[in-house]
Amino acid sequence: MSVQKPVRRMTAPRIAARKGGEPIVSLTSYHAHTAAIVDRYADFILVGDSLGMVMHGMENTVGVTVEMMITHGKAVVRGTQRALVVVDMPFGSYEESPSVAFRNAARIMQDTGCGAVKLEGGARMAETIHFLTERGIPVMAHIGLTPQSINVMGGFKTQGRDEESWPLHEADAHAVAEAGAFALVLEGMVEPLAARITKQVAIPTIGIGASKECDGQILVLEDMLGLNPKPPKFVKVYGDLGGRIEKAVSDYAEDVRSRAFPTEDQTYN
Ligand code: KIV
Repeated sequence: MSVQKPVRRMTAPRIAARKGGEPIVSLTSYHAHTAAIVDRYADFILVGDSLGMVMHGMENTVGVTVEMMITHGKAVVRGTQRALVVVDMPFGSYEESPSVAFRNAARIMQDTGCGAVKLEGGARMAETIHFLTERGIPVMAHIGLTPQSINVMGGFKTQGRDEESWPLHEADAHAVAEAGAFALVLEGMVEPLAARITKQVAIPTIGIGASKECDGQILVLEDMLGLNPKPPKFVKVYGDLGGRIEKAVSDYAEDVRSRAFPTEDQTYN
């Protein structure tokens, strides 16, 4: 009789321990069926607040709510067993004070069963990151292009083009690492700056539009699958899901119109 080993889910400390080691594989997912596939390959799955744009057609991530994150977070946790699930804290749920951040992060973790949360911001969020990690909430930090600040940044712009700004970004990275973040997303950052930060901090950096020198990489799943008609320039598109869905839907429409569908056997199973 064969005894199946229970699957051990990845944890935040095990991700942290991968600094400088085997590259960390990560993708976003917002839904149970895609999460189940990603789970077989990724070390962590991010339920990113990009779901506002990808799933809900919003213009940016500012309108995403805690409830939306919980709904999608639950679906991803249910669909997975191996990968660490990290859920984004949406705009307005953590900036006000460490205690507001704790209340919302605790609710996200309790309601979804995720293993960590992610929040945007560098030095200004250090106190909150420390407060959360001291109280049992693993935090992934996110600096560089931080989409929740789009209204201050004036658009999705690569950060660090001006070398004089590098010390500020480096200080952000050091501040979140020292505050206890277990990993750090570097988004939309010029390559040499992302590489420098990766060398400087003791926690793994996860790049998106940053550098291949990062300790891991993340992409928005729908971007790399070819579902986004206008993916960001840095994205390598690995599939043509948009084209395949279009073909399947048009074949189905043709079958229905020509009465080739439904087939004879219409039983469930
Ligand atoms: O919301 C998201 O998908 C993200 C990734 C782009 C890192 O934060």
